Amino acid sequence: MSTEERVRGALEDRREAVNEAIREQLPVTRPERLYEASRYLLDAGGKRLRPVVLLLTAEALAEVESCSEDYRAFPDLTGGEVDIMSAAVSIEVIQSFTLIHDDIMDDDDLRRGVPAVHKEYDLETAILAGDTLYSKAFEYMLETDAPAEREVRALDELATTCTEICEGQAFDVEFESRDDVTTDEYLEMVELKTAVLYAAAAAIPAILLGADDETVDALHGYGLDIGRAFQIQDDLLDLTTPSEKLGKQRGSDLVEGKRTIITLHARNQGVDVDALVDADDPENVTEADIDTAVGTLEEAGSIEFAREMANDLVASGKARLECLPDTEAHSLLEDIADFLVEREY
Ligand code: IPE
Ligand code: IPE
Ligand code: MG
Ligand code: MG
Ligand code: MG
Repeated sequence: MSTEERVRGALEDRREAVNEAIREQLPVTRPERLYEASRYLLDAGGKRLRPVVLLLTAEALAEVESCSEDYRAFPDLTGGEVDIMSAAVSIEVIQSFTLIHDDIMDDDDLRRGVPAVHKEYDLETAILAGDTLYSKAFEYMLETDAPAEREVRALDELATTCTEICEGQAFDVEFESRDDVTTDEYLEMVELKTAVLYAAAAAIPAILLGADDETVDALHGYGLDIGRAFQIQDDLLDLTTPSEKLGKQRGSDLVEGKRTIITLHARNQGVDVDALVDADDPENVTEADIDTAVGTLEEAGSIEFAREMANDLVASGKARLECLPDTEAHSLLEDIADFLVEREY
């Protein structure tokens, strides 16, 4: 079996368990429109990468043989049981919250192959749906039945993560109007807006199951590395993957004037990155315009540069997993790290 087949199989099994748990924990109640809008993207799909990283990390730590049907009574490291699925749901619900608000900020109409929430509903409902998911995530993190001091620590990790995502998103928006953003600034922005959620997904199960601090820190570092690599791949896919396959608008970053590692590298090679597409006339930017822009970026070596940086981060992340016992889940966490930069959507 190839790495990709192994990852896809692992994702599929666990994704279904996560989806079932989301339906259970986030029912549509009054006011229906608010809860329907909150469930809308969750029901539309999504790769569920972060909750799967969380479940696999738990499996690796507890040395559970394979995908456990019941993540609701999961063995911890001290002889107790934890509802680790509730933590997984919490992380995916945060992911959905950030996507709803991100599409408003990035002026994107398409998400997970369906209209963005502010387009399908309206701006007010989308803001509220995002806020509802944000606070629900904290409720779910308090429903793990882990000992109180571990749950408080997990909540602290979640709260810090959310603050950092907002900081990262603020830098992301600020950088659009700056043409002197450095690679270090980009990497800080990406760590904050994206990587911290992967770090939380890997560290929180260790906290809840009662792992030692060294293990929690190593897993946090794994999440930060693979999360940065994930965002670099996301920036690449924005340029290269057709909208139908991506489930979101191809070329959106170019049109919005986002600073990515690709455009930063190209700028340093002398490319006028703000002239790659006509951002003043986004409606008329064609696939051919984006193809031409990608050609310019390829010629500048910027695509290759970004790929190499993402690969280095994956290697660094995988090395941090040495703290885990030698199990199938451990090797799947390595495979997922590879998958994050090999994926085509
Ligand atoms: C998109 O994340 C948001 C970013 C941080 C780039 P994913 O590509 O994991 O989106 P879903 O959850 O699968 O829709
Ligand atoms: C999103 O980054 C980061 C968060 C959602 C916090 P992007 O803006 O690149 O994500 P996509 O490409 O819209 O999914
Ligand atoms: Mg976006
Ligand atoms: Mg964004
Ligand atoms: Mg993107």
